Amino acid sequence: MSIGTTLKSSIGAKALMAVTGIILVLFVIGHMLGNLQVYLGADALNAYAAKLQSLGPLLWVIRLVLLGTFLAHIIAAIRVVKLNRAARPVAYHQQKDQATTFAARTMWVSGVLILLFAIYHVLHLTVGVVDPAGTYGALDSEGRHDVYGMVIAGFQHWPTTAIYTVAMVVLCLHVSHGASSMLQTLGLRRPGNASGFDKVGPALAIFLLIGNLSMPLSILAGLVG
Ligand code: HEM
Repeated sequence: MSIGTTLKSSIGAKALMAVTGIILVLFVIGHMLGNLQVYLGADALNAYAAKLQSLGPLLWVIRLVLLGTFLAHIIAAIRVVKLNRAARPVAYHQQKDQATTFAARTMWVSGVLILLFAIYHVLHLTVGVVDPAGTYGALDSEGRHDVYGMVIAGFQHWPTTAIYTVAMVVLCLHVSHGASSMLQTLGLRRPGNASGFDKVGPALAIFLLIGNLSMPLSILAGLVG
């Protein structure tokens, strides 16, 4: 089977969703670990941001790969739903989800909310157009982009922290089902190891929730900054 035919099939679309999902999860973990340097102070976070900026054209390559991965993940998800519907042209008379979790049933809603959050987040911290404190573009004493000042001022504004809190809970739900489901698609989860593998998604989701939420909440509480 050619790659084109495989990707058009349901298994191909699911595999694409799983592979792009892994890349996105790796990005979110790496991004969180980088951001946690906010606890080390302004110098650490601003030096890290300046190092990323200094990648120049490579940073643009990474951004484009990330954007392409995000779009491929969405397109694959739409394709899986379409193929599943085509496989059952007559809708169930009465649809009842059985043996499934809240996270699994709401993957579409959580996915759309994460897309909206990603757009808002880039407008907030990368482009600065929805920066509530107006600190975007300020420089620190070393003449670097003051990412630390911008993050602190942003999360001291409670509506911003509220938006991030909801988004991180939604991300947690999405990853909790998505990561376990990915392992199943890739054939790593088998009857013998199913119970262990089913815990991978929720464990990863809680790790991301605690790490990501700790930042806006501790800043709003005045513990950092
Ligand atoms: C509380 C959690 C988060 C914090 C504190 C945070 C912080 C930041 C900061 C400071 C930037 C701008 C970096 C700079 O200007 O140098 C940024 C950019 C970005 N963040 Fe986050 N982030 C968080 C969660 C997330 C999540 C969950 C995602 C993915 C769904 C995400 C995706 C991105 C993307 C795509 C960019 C743009 C990167 C670029 O400049 O090309 N972030 N984030």
